[in-house]
Amino acid sequence: MSECQVTLIPDGPALIRGADRIRDADGVTHEATRPVVAVCLCGLTQRPPWCDATHKVAVKP
Ligand code: FES
Repeated sequence: MSECQVTLIPDGPALIRGADRIRDADGVTHEATRPVVAVCLCGLTQRPPWCDATHKVAVKP
């Protein structure tokens, strides 16, 4: 079993280091093609499950 590290960025994505695959909320598996991948937590990305930096322009309530 490999180990991965998750870092939560305030008001941003989860940075995941060392994962081979990410499974989204619908159960779909996505290949992690880089050593560190950013998974969207804000729900605004146009390319889920990956963060596309849309969170930076999102207006907070
Ligand atoms: S966390 Fe970056 S677009 Fe959602």
